[in-house]
Amino acid sequence: MAGKAIRSVPVGELTVEEAATELAALAAEIARHDSAYYQDDAPRIPDAEYDALRLRNRAIETHFPELRREDSPELRVGAQPSERFEKVRHARAMLSLDNAFAPEDVEEFLGRVRRFLGLSAEDGLALTAEPKIDGLSASLRYEAGRLVLAATRGDGETGETVTANAKTIADIPHRLAGRSVPGIFEIRGEVYMAHADFAALNERQAAEGKPLFANPRNAAAGSLRQLDPSITRARPLRFFAHGWGEASAVPGRTQAEVMAAIAEFGLPVNPYFRRVEDAAGALALYAEIERIRADLPYDIDGMVYKVDRLDWQERLGFVARAPRWAIAHKFAPEQAITRLRAIEIQVGRTGALTPVAKLEPVTVGGVVVSNATLHNEDEIARKDVRIGDRVVVQRAGDVIPQIVRVVMDERPADAEPFVFPDHCPVCGSAAVRETNAKTGRADVVRRCTGGLVCEAQARERLKHFVSRDAFDIDGLGDKQVDAFFDAGLIRQPADIFTLEGRNASLDPPLREWEGWGPVSEANLFRAIEARRTIALPRLLFALGIRHIGQTTARLLAASFETIDGVARIARAAAEDEAARAEMLAIDGIGETVAQALIGFFAEAHNREALEALLREIEVERFERPSAGSPVAGKTVVFTGTLTRFTRPEAKARAEALGAKVAGSVSAKTDYVVAGAEAGSKLKKATELGVRVLSEEEWLALIGG
Ligand code: IVH
Repeated sequence: MAGKAIRSVPVGELTVEEAATELAALAAEIARHDSAYYQDDAPRIPDAEYDALRLRNRAIETHFPELRREDSPELRVGAQPSERFEKVRHARAMLSLDNAFAPEDVEEFLGRVRRFLGLSAEDGLALTAEPKIDGLSASLRYEAGRLVLAATRGDGETGETVTANAKTIADIPHRLAGRSVPGIFEIRGEVYMAHADFAALNERQAAEGKPLFANPRNAAAGSLRQLDPSITRARPLRFFAHGWGEASAVPGRTQAEVMAAIAEFGLPVNPYFRRVEDAAGALALYAEIERIRADLPYDIDGMVYKVDRLDWQERLGFVARAPRWAIAHKFAPEQAITRLRAIEIQVGRTGALTPVAKLEPVTVGGVVVSNATLHNEDEIARKDVRIGDRVVVQRAGDVIPQIVRVVMDERPADAEPFVFPDHCPVCGSAAVRETNAKTGRADVVRRCTGGLVCEAQARERLKHFVSRDAFDIDGLGDKQVDAFFDAGLIRQPADIFTLEGRNASLDPPLREWEGWGPVSEANLFRAIEARRTIALPRLLFALGIRHIGQTTARLLAASFETIDGVARIARAAAEDEAARAEMLAIDGIGETVAQALIGFFAEAHNREALEALLREIEVERFERPSAGSPVAGKTVVFTGTLTRFTRPEAKARAEALGAKVAGSVSAKTDYVVAGAEAGSKLKKATELGVRVLSEEEWLALIGG
């Protein structure tokens, strides 16, 4: 073809016409190869030849920038990863793990599992144990044995499609091996970069004058989330499977059996994966791996233990975002010594004054640390931390670095005890320690009493509002919130949704701000638009009401279904005992949460801010996960000694089927499930004419 002959001509000697012709030919040819490679799994030329085509294209474009075509292969390399990938909803949520730091935490985890399942101390409870890989998780969906979709974890519910990129990873087969492959099988695991490959990549980056990656994890994430798969292909990523998502049939009855099947299908399972009989076995493997950790060719940050029996995993289910049947046992954090230069007081969204240690920068476990948390004023006093001290700093995984202790021998003679401020450093309002109603003791946290007049609180509330588990607005992070806040453009949540309308009359408009351009501006407004419809639990969490975390937000959503429902009960409960009792009857809602909710809706400015927001957005009615179940929406009370299941299991099961579990019987109770020796609750149910079920009847009702 024409291009071939021209390609031997040095770029500098091409005429404009020749260059234009060649660019057209290259665009078409590269697109054809991309499609052969990524869509049909059938590359037509060796990688080196493909790379040569791309280099030639780039060289001509550099020489003749005015000739760059709209369909130029270069233009498929964008700048903002998160906006560029198609989103995909996971068939089964991708969860995270709870952490254990000490052997006692592991024992406690196993104790919880035993209690939940009603196992005795003699019953065996085998686990699997394997290293926790420090990479990013991915889900690989195979249909009829072919890889049809690869997705990142994203927020756990929705991830990004990275199929073409995943196909460039040698560890990930395009087809599963073996004959007993389930029709639909999603394999989940960790994409990571080995140390040697990371070092080589950073050397290349340096040679090309490009920014270096901080660690292999970031390098892996940056490489997988490339719009141009040829870049991913040039970066050696690897994969370890550690579980599965949707499956038309699960190839085994235990975690270990399924992992063995996954290995047979052709995916790498970590060589240190083991089945162990008990905690002792898990802890022994932990000790062994911790010893060899530094010699492993990739980063790990702990071990993961999972209950081996799948029927038990099924019964154990999940809390919020983590399974009850697994835990991550983290390795001891890395430490270093440095000097404390200053203590800065930050004000959080609830007014909490948090002391932050400003440190002489020091490398801890491969990351430069210059800030660490000091938690609260009691902690500073307890550790007797003074400005100028040499301090031991530690960091573990993603958690904020901490000050462990002071190196007392090296304390400067003139170091003075730190005096914690009793006024807010931002707004000057008094900062007080409230008295805990239950314990009668002063709260450890000192809080600014400035409420809305305190800019720090308003700012932090907005940051929380847009954060990942709340509205999750791409491109609107802490830095952007600060900038919009400083410019007076966003002061309350509703302002976020009116920003685009006001942008045209801004001088200058956002796209002309430093660090912004037409593309990032458009991306931001698109991301905001995408959140005009929001799920109720997210909204409730986003409001940043004290004591209302994700789990409580979900519980409130499930109980009251709409934001009006929540507002109504909160307002009613301020005056009316019955409404208050209705709220408190929900298992999981206690005095503290009730008080916080009532307090929030009692404030006119909170109601106004919420109303302004609700004029801009649409809140989805809460759909119970199992709206069709026979007990969806019903209120159930369990009482007496249950023998067919444990109390926590009964509650979890009922909630999963959409029922509300209450702690006390009232006229609103639909069912009382009574075990042996049921007392006052059973009596009350009979008096009120509430339907009483035996355990067997309950099981029959919910379908066994
Ligand atoms: S199991 C439902 N096993 O750690 C449980 N996770 O902190 C799913 N991870 O999102 C996780 N190595 O990306 C599991 N051997 C391992 C792992 C592992 C790394 C990641 C995973 C998860 C995160 C949770």
